[in-house]
Amino acid sequence: MKNDFISIYDYSREWFEEIFKIARDLKNKIRTGEVYHPLKDKTLTMIFQKSSARTRISFEMGMYQLGGYALYLAPDDIQLGKRESVKDIARVISRYNDCIMARLFDHKHIIELAEYSSVPVINGLTNLLHPCQVTADIFTILEYKGVIDNIKVAFIGDGNNVANSWLNMSSKFPLNMSFAIPEGYDPNQEILERALNSKVSNIQIFREPFLAAEDADVIYTDVWTSMGKENEIEKRKIDFKNFQVNEELLKFAKDDCVVMHCLPAHRGEEITDDVIDGNNSIVYDEAENRMHIQKAILIKLLT
Ligand code: CP
Ligand code: NVA
Repeated sequence: MKNDFISIYDYSREWFEEIFKIARDLKNKIRTGEVYHPLKDKTLTMIFQKSSARTRISFEMGMYQLGGYALYLAPDDIQLGKRESVKDIARVISRYNDCIMARLFDHKHIIELAEYSSVPVINGLTNLLHPCQVTADIFTILEYKGVIDNIKVAFIGDGNNVANSWLNMSSKFPLNMSFAIPEGYDPNQEILERALNSKVSNIQIFREPFLAAEDADVIYTDVWTSMGKENEIEKRKIDFKNFQVNEELLKFAKDDCVVMHCLPAHRGEEITDDVIDGNNSIVYDEAENRMHIQKAILIKLLT
């Protein structure tokens, strides 16, 4: 049976630990220049309904480095769900290649894509989840802190796809997860309840960033306005104006706290220049790890 990577929730802590091990090894191979082609002649189709820098580039370069090939389909190319139904595309692409990665608006569509395709499907972000991101994030935390268990992660901002994936991760690893989210922008209720019921992590939601940031090991943020919500941009600028990661906020966290952002960052909105460019910021290592983690996921699903 094929395996997909749609949600962090579908996998166990042990599975993620294996992914980290593979990613660490892949990272070393790059550093030493060792050529490693476990996906020789394997092919990946990448369907994008939204813009992307990191996801597109890291998957494309990752496939190349593993000896495979990746095809990029831009939002206008196949017009998933418009020119053709999701299930027809799933069935057809499955005949051409070994794996599909898709960045879609509607989460239902990635589930449908996985249901009707006979090859593994990887979620490269939907409105609901961003599992590759948060897997790379927790791996980056492990690299910096040496441990994951009981690390305090303060997520400041929108209860969006990234926040929902953090909730899923908090059902896998025991975290001290504190969110600061303005009223009206909470994470998905079902995902929140499931994470609370799993009782793996300590999860709290505050309305004040400094309460969430207190003694944090990690300060994490994302854009105030995610892709697809652009018509709310002006309202969100008002609602989120106190939810900025800046030097003042960092004073509440531990001195050695690391600052993370999935990127792209809107400098001067959710994060200030001095913080993203400052000594606590690990955002570029975080971005680099997207590639190593996704290569590990590809190897795990395809070999
Ligand atoms: N973080 C992330 O997924 O970046 P892109 O939107 O550029 O792919
Ligand atoms: N929450 C953001 C993440 C971008 C990588 C968005 O969905 O636009």
